[in-house]
Amino acid sequence: MNYNIALVPGDGIGPDVVAEAVKVLDKIGEKFGHSFTYNKVLAGGAAIDQTGKCLPQETIDICKGSDAVLLGAVGGPKWDSYPGDQRPERALLGLRKELGLFANLRPAMVFEQLSDASPLKPEIIEGGLDIVVVRELTGGIYFGEKGVKESTPLGPAAYDVEQYAEEEVRRIAKVAFDMAVKRRRKVTSVDKANVLESSRLWRRVVAEVAKEYPDVELDNLYVDNAAMQLVRNPKQFDVLVTSNIFGDILSDEASQITGSIGMLPSASLSTGNFGMYEPVHGSAPDIAGKNLANPIATILSAAMMLRYTFGLSAEADSIEDAVKAFLTKGFRTPDICAGKESVGTDQAGTIIADLI
Ligand code: IPM
Ligand code: MN
Repeated sequence: MNYNIALVPGDGIGPDVVAEAVKVLDKIGEKFGHSFTYNKVLAGGAAIDQTGKCLPQETIDICKGSDAVLLGAVGGPKWDSYPGDQRPERALLGLRKELGLFANLRPAMVFEQLSDASPLKPEIIEGGLDIVVVRELTGGIYFGEKGVKESTPLGPAAYDVEQYAEEEVRRIAKVAFDMAVKRRRKVTSVDKANVLESSRLWRRVVAEVAKEYPDVELDNLYVDNAAMQLVRNPKQFDVLVTSNIFGDILSDEASQITGSIGMLPSASLSTGNFGMYEPVHGSAPDIAGKNLANPIATILSAAMMLRYTFGLSAEADSIEDAVKAFLTKGFRTPDICAGKESVGTDQAGTIIADLI
């Protein structure tokens, strides 16, 4: 079977890490008899430099015509002074909207071999940590009406509207419950229903969806409390489901408590099996092109692509096993080496591919 993958290397370390994921995918193809065809496209700062636009129409078209998208990272100091609607980050929002990627899955797990990397006390994460943040990705305040008011009694002002339709909440809640069924059967929905009307609607719709999943436990938490519980007792969580903005913030917090953001993959899914896959870390321009970046988050994102879009779970398992074997054998990239010897980006990719 041939699979068409749009590759968006992007900026900073994006190209470094995407190259290693391709190496690993090719090894999977060889071993399991699949072929992967790659179409490299521009987005972010790289696209601004070459075309004047952060998200050229050609990129959207090629992504739409592919079976899945693998993205590195976008952004960097070079484009920081650009106006909001022309910054590289807009490319991500544009891709999410154009491709209908409403469900963002961000697993945060502590790898046993790296358990001392967590900034939390050992007793808090003892026995492992394995959470998935399910973030709504195409609605809410990031996509709501926005504007500026030249004059108000307190001077010029600006606003962004948080709005959720029932159907937007229902479909993301279903993704979270379906995920929980395959895990530890617990969903925590995060909102601010004590203050926000949109959160009250959110909470009501999530409760309706929960009725279809009698074997899954549902908890509701206010976002301020959730932020606190994540560092106080993160092991209480299995699947967290929340709005675009709360998910943006809480998924950063969840990834940081694992201590190894360079290891964490993510998936952004639309209806059907289409998805865009990317590491949780950013473009890290300071180490770009220096063979220092950890390619594991992107390699694990490729594994998620095999699992969720292509339905190739044995192949996905074999990538995840190869990453664990890499760590167990003591190999480390500079971000996780804690003073020990480390291997470069390209060696890490080669070793993991060889372990498949
Ligand atoms: C993320 C990023 C993006 C977001 C930015 C770059 C637009 O922070 O993927 O979490 O806020 O969604
Ligand atoms: Mn973010």
